[in-house]
Amino acid sequence: MTFLFPNYQRKPIELVSGKGCMVTDQSGKQYLDLTSGIGVSSLGHQHPLLTKALKQQVDKIWHTSNLYTNSLQEAVAEKLANHKDYVAFFCNSGTEANEAALKLAKKATGRNKILSFHQSFHGRTYGAMSLTGQSSIQQGFGEMLGEVAYFPFNDIEEIADNLNQEVAAVIVELIQGESGIHVAYKGWIKELYKLCKKQGILFIVDEVQTGIGRTGSLFAYEQYDIEPDIITSAKALANGLPLGAMLGKQSLAQTFSPGSHGSTFGGNPLALSVACQVLDLVQTPEIQENIQQRSLQFFNGLQQISSKKIIDIRGKGLMIGIELTDSLVLTQVMNQLEKHGVLTLRAGKNVLRLLPPLTISQAEVAKALEIIEEVLAG
Ligand SMILES: Cc1ncc(COP(=O)(O)O)c(C=O)c1O
Repeated sequence: MTFLFPNYQRKPIELVSGKGCMVTDQSGKQYLDLTSGIGVSSLGHQHPLLTKALKQQVDKIWHTSNLYTNSLQEAVAEKLANHKDYVAFFCNSGTEANEAALKLAKKATGRNKILSFHQSFHGRTYGAMSLTGQSSIQQGFGEMLGEVAYFPFNDIEEIADNLNQEVAAVIVELIQGESGIHVAYKGWIKELYKLCKKQGILFIVDEVQTGIGRTGSLFAYEQYDIEPDIITSAKALANGLPLGAMLGKQSLAQTFSPGSHGSTFGGNPLALSVACQVLDLVQTPEIQENIQQRSLQFFNGLQQISSKKIIDIRGKGLMIGIELTDSLVLTQVMNQLEKHGVLTLRAGKNVLRLLPPLTISQAEVAKALEIIEEVLAG
């Protein structure tokens, strides 16, 4: 008997505590966490500075509503802008950040069409689900937003003919996370961005999974020589407290005039007090260096594994995908890894996805590689 909807396929383990990159289940078994709670606890579990920030805020005030000035929102927005001319709207999740982006793009341009990509993932609410280029996500839920069209990822030909003045925005993940760690080519993104600019089409980058240091820079777009009109963020932003953000260019600010959009909980002080620390920490030279070094260690180590089960290895920073022969093999590999005390994620049908905390140590990566090799060789 359960009192829950069965919409998640849950494992029978319950994680009851965590410290750094290690988590412990109800039986006391320890695991190396290569999931970060699907790219959320990116600075590890119980980071002392984050715990301190949260505790301090707990003793001050939990909720103020958005009827009042909020200096924590100002501080986090400034850090997210990262010396560029972005303003922020705060919400509670990735899907809400994408809903906000959709509304902003339509209102700012007065246009209706949105272009997205096959195999993309943008969330589960109606707008974000409509942006998602996967029929399996949409199946059974009736009509999607009719104005969204999907195009092949990493291919300029087909979309180029459709970039006209009826289009409000293009939305893209720079690494498609949920569907299998597909990295966008730099040349493709630069060309797409240029063509959008020509037609007054807003360029939205969904950084819900790629952002907050995951790929080596605060946001992945910084590695693509572009400045998106709109950026969406969530997941790791408050390391486990619910927080989402939509950033838009200053020139779009007046589109969201008073009363045009809002959220009761969005940008609450508890999540923001943590986000403030998260954004300082991910930009420190120590964490930046760790992401670079551990990424190299992972990719070098994985490339040296000789296994017939591996088809491809791809990703950036600490967003890593290992494509395996098929989905059954992936299930077996994940179960074996779990048995050996390593938690991993699935992406698409057959990709083993690793999103370890950005604070993972050299010894922990070495241990992870040793176990992954043993399992893949077997
Ligand atoms: C790229 C991307 N966008 C949006 C979302 C949705 O975020 P949330 O689950 O916080 O609504 C996800 C979640 O996996 C994601 O990976």
